Amino acid sequence: MNSRIYLNNSWKFTPEWTGETADPAFDESTMENIRIPHTVKELPLHYCNEQSYQMVSGYRRHLFAPEEWKGKAILLTFEGAAHDATVFLNGREAASHHCGYTAFTADISSLLNYGEDNIITVRLDSRETLNVPPFGFVIDYMTYGGIYRNVYLEIRSFSYIEDVFVNTDPGSIYEKNNSNGEGMGKSFFSDDASLTSLVTINNFRPGMMIRQSFRSKTQEQFRLLREMEVIEDSFESEGFAGSVRLWDVDDPALYQLKTELIDSTGTSVDEVITTFGFRIAEFRKDGFWLNGRKLRIRGLNRHQAYPYVGYAMPDTVQREDADILKRELGVNAVRTSHYPQAQSFIDRCDELGLLVFTEFPGWQHIGDESWKNQALTNLTEMICQYRNHPSIILWGVRINESIDDEEFYSRTNQLAHHLDPSRQTGGVRCYKKGFFQEDVFTYNDFSHNGLTAGCENKSKVTPDIDKPYLITEYNGHMFPTKAYDDEEHRLEHALRHARVLNSVAGKNDISGSFGWVMNDYNTHKDFGSGDRVCYHGVMDMFRNPKMAAYVYAIQQDDRPVLEISSSMDIGEHPGSCRGDVYVFTNSDKVRMYRNDKFIREFDSSSTPFANLHHGPFIIDDYIGDTLRENEDFTDSQAHQITRILNLVARKGLYGLPKKVYLSVGKLFIQYHMKPQDLVDLYNRYIGDWGSASGNYRFDAIKDGKVVKSVTKAPMNQVKLSLESSRTALIEGNSYDVASIRIRATDERGNVLPYFNDPLVLHVEGALELMGPDIISLAGGMGGTYVKTTGSEGTGKLTVSSTSGASAELEFTVRTGGDQ
Ligand code: GAL
Repeated sequence: MNSRIYLNNSWKFTPEWTGETADPAFDESTMENIRIPHTVKELPLHYCNEQSYQMVSGYRRHLFAPEEWKGKAILLTFEGAAHDATVFLNGREAASHHCGYTAFTADISSLLNYGEDNIITVRLDSRETLNVPPFGFVIDYMTYGGIYRNVYLEIRSFSYIEDVFVNTDPGSIYEKNNSNGEGMGKSFFSDDASLTSLVTINNFRPGMMIRQSFRSKTQEQFRLLREMEVIEDSFESEGFAGSVRLWDVDDPALYQLKTELIDSTGTSVDEVITTFGFRIAEFRKDGFWLNGRKLRIRGLNRHQAYPYVGYAMPDTVQREDADILKRELGVNAVRTSHYPQAQSFIDRCDELGLLVFTEFPGWQHIGDESWKNQALTNLTEMICQYRNHPSIILWGVRINESIDDEEFYSRTNQLAHHLDPSRQTGGVRCYKKGFFQEDVFTYNDFSHNGLTAGCENKSKVTPDIDKPYLITEYNGHMFPTKAYDDEEHRLEHALRHARVLNSVAGKNDISGSFGWVMNDYNTHKDFGSGDRVCYHGVMDMFRNPKMAAYVYAIQQDDRPVLEISSSMDIGEHPGSCRGDVYVFTNSDKVRMYRNDKFIREFDSSSTPFANLHHGPFIIDDYIGDTLRENEDFTDSQAHQITRILNLVARKGLYGLPKKVYLSVGKLFIQYHMKPQDLVDLYNRYIGDWGSASGNYRFDAIKDGKVVKSVTKAPMNQVKLSLESSRTALIEGNSYDVASIRIRATDERGNVLPYFNDPLVLHVEGALELMGPDIISLAGGMGGTYVKTTGSEGTGKLTVSSTSGASAELEFTVRTGGDQ
């Protein structure tokens, strides 16, 4: 049968490959013991250097091959080796592969010594001078080096199933409101679904059969679909599935097809289980349609990079990013810019109902003929390795932001359609119009500069308005934003995301958009802020949310969100004018209290971003009825003064329209007030100078109930908060890692955006730290990673600041399970 043995442990590494490293007799004693995922070089968070991971390195591992393996197909798979790998078995070359972002498999059966120890060696070239994509010119992301995804061995029968590609036809679809109790929205069904699979057999023998059966992924039992004789090595098999639940964003129902290879004696000799989904995904002239209904794509781009270790994070951490995107940021789609990402990440997108646009590796540059041939190989590998994922809805078949190349791109389009007739192609451009060979015009619209409209009209961008159109990037370099930028900068960053989303949502002929980018990332010297970081994320590198993250987070309804754009400290702003304070919430209303006195209820429908499901809105009243209640004013006088003071609060004394100064003059005459009276009222009701507390509480109300509260008040105490993705870690196929977000907050849980102090990290027990043990927060936020060491037990992380605040987290580590 098809059993997978992970080979992630017990590797040795040298940063210097020599001609002898592959020699079985090579002296390994100076090599470093490492585990996979591995990076050839750990990097600092800031001011790292892209030269430091460029090297030709060597990996070695022993493998005992039992006698029972003889006569079988022994397949060795590397899921990701960046960027050019040559694999040797006992000194003899077994395979070479020239793409850091797709998997490759070496059949090592004929090279193994059975009943003996064998040596696997990998020569890994991670230099950016390689003549393969994405290399050749500048690149706005680090390309890192290392065997950074799983390595595994499969012991298969001599004849084995090499590939199964499942295509579904959901038949007639009907919709039901979901009653599965998981809080999901819509579910789609069919009673006459069918599926076709393209099966490829290696070394087939006459008289062999295949048997296929299928089940919902939540069921135990497989249901027989069909049996058929194998008469050639690649063939199509059709089957009627009947009643099925469709894969959709709110209800991502998954199915599994079991394909067994039966030999002439009737014995099942090999088996492959393929996970897939029934669904219809289609980009049309008027937008994106999933299962027969129009769905606006609201997504973010993602780089697979992490602090310190670059690409080298285990599957558990890859999967977390999908959870963050779907559950925390509330998006319904992700673009895997600019290369195929870990299978585990895409598996999680399948499970969560997160739509994926995935593209072959490259960044602006198109190379020579040999480079282009490699790009076509990469495209073939990408499609063949990922085409069963129901979450993938579009293939990117142009090098991101490259110029037109009619000949090259007609080859990529044809190849993609040949390998996967079920999906459309796109290819991301930064130029309008041009030669259009794909099915969907995919364009990076960076037109919004804070003053202009959120996006351009489709007709200004595409050469053919009868074809589908999708925006694949916006914002990014137009407004880099650090978590420690001042409040106004961070707010403008958020509003730019809101403006683009709002504009896109207002145009029925745009399928949707992907913002640049999920999180900040390390980059080459040619980009970013000089410290080799692109601060384009709606989250920082540790996946802490910046203000812009809340624009996305409030579009979902599964968990209540309430974020206030200001700390309410007027001194943060030029001229001590707080400016516009925005509320980001997915609730219906927000009630504001000042020093526990009710001021006003704000309705979410007052948002200027009316096309959004939930749009941010402005606090335009800090006084409510309090003047009328507390002061000896007539209603009209209280009303006029309230209006003026609220305007001064938002616009400052010198930013007021002329008409307001006239009203002030009238007030003085009509009610015999003096300028100082207004100043006193301002200080008392808005400025809070000298008052005891100056405390603002915001209650988010949904369906009449308070679902979330935020209080902004002067801080008295710095607290450290640690939020770990998981505290129960499992040593399974490899080491496990917990991602820990570290934040400095006040006693009410508000992040202290200018607490940039150093923190000391200490781990004990069955864990070790990844990265440095002294870090600085940036914008009151930061993070770390702890990793398992191979042993079972408990572990503890302690974080302490020089000013006395500290926090700790406890972990358990179990060995032997599935991660
Ligand atoms: C785009 C590019 C992205 C990133 C972004 C920054 O042009 O496709 O990879 O560099 O700009 O805004």
